[in-house]
Amino acid sequence: MSTLQFTRTLPEDATGAALRADVLTGLTASPKTLPPKWFYDARGSELFDEITTLPEYYPTRAEREILLTRAEEIAAATGARTLIELGSGSSDKTRHLLDSLAELAMYVPVDVSESALRQAAEALRAEHPGLAVHALIADFTAPLALPATPGPRLVAFLGGTLGNLLPAERAAFLASVRALLSPGDALLLGTDLVKDEGTLVAAYDDAAGVTAEFNKNVLNVIDRELGADFDPDAFTHVARWDPREEWIEMRLRARTDLSVKIPALELAVDFAAGEELRTEVSAKFREAGVRAELLAAGLTPAHWWTDDAGRFALSLSRVA
Ligand code: SAH
Ligand code: AVI
Repeated sequence: MSTLQFTRTLPEDATGAALRADVLTGLTASPKTLPPKWFYDARGSELFDEITTLPEYYPTRAEREILLTRAEEIAAATGARTLIELGSGSSDKTRHLLDSLAELAMYVPVDVSESALRQAAEALRAEHPGLAVHALIADFTAPLALPATPGPRLVAFLGGTLGNLLPAERAAFLASVRALLSPGDALLLGTDLVKDEGTLVAAYDDAAGVTAEFNKNVLNVIDRELGADFDPDAFTHVARWDPREEWIEMRLRARTDLSVKIPALELAVDFAAGEELRTEVSAKFREAGVRAELLAAGLTPAHWWTDDAGRFALSLSRVA
């Protein structure tokens, strides 16, 4: 019989308090920004899953190809008894790892999206009876309190989500992951790679408009949670490649001059026509850069695998 447990390490009002703080800071700054974690309410998680099936959005397929090819190698290299996955979402690709990790006793998916965790855990319960699942509703950018689990531990951070953190946040995040691990443990990291601008922009500005809806969903979250009166249709979805930073930026551009009321903050925010609010960066990487960031965090890169087309990389690092 499988066991299934949920732990919320976010206080009940964490969403409210943290969202208020982020919206106040981000919408009173110049230029205006919001952190991408607020995309992922139940609807946002659904929209992300839809994005992963779009013809233009290659990262999920590329990473799945690597996982399918390398799962046995990863299992042999790590002998993991606990798999901790940060930003696990649907845990869909993770199934390829779960199928191969013969010693696995415990899976710990960690996500801010409770709906995604619940759906994933239910699906896993049916597919992997015998596997203990302890889901954590938690913010992986805050200190993580992990359940006591058997080692060796493998932490997986897939999908390229590392690229949604800014460089200083990435350094702090990787150092905090290192601090969770002991000698013999490992980190499996998915990173999307630098490639031609056309492919990158299309992946973030798909013809069906799903990414646009995902981007605008953050405004629905602020409307619902903070009583704001954002009209998502008053904004245009923008996806732009920044060749200097080597990241995609998603923005929302005001179609006209407008003012938004946010009662929970007793705040009115003005947008000039054409003004852009940055909602996400999605950094694209090169092997040397990923190695340098891992080493700086005290991790030792051991494997670097890409899909056949060289679009996406999975790396396995160890703790010496
Ligand atoms: N790993 C999956 C999902 C990627 S989408 C894949 O590769 O397809 C990014 C996931 O990270 C979402 O499920 C989102 O809810 C979660 N997430 C984003 N920011 C987070 C944060 N700060 N803490 C915890 N989870 C976060
Ligand atoms: C979760 N993360 C890796 C996605 C990405 O590609 O940066 C989020 C996303 N944003 C737009 N489309 C997908």
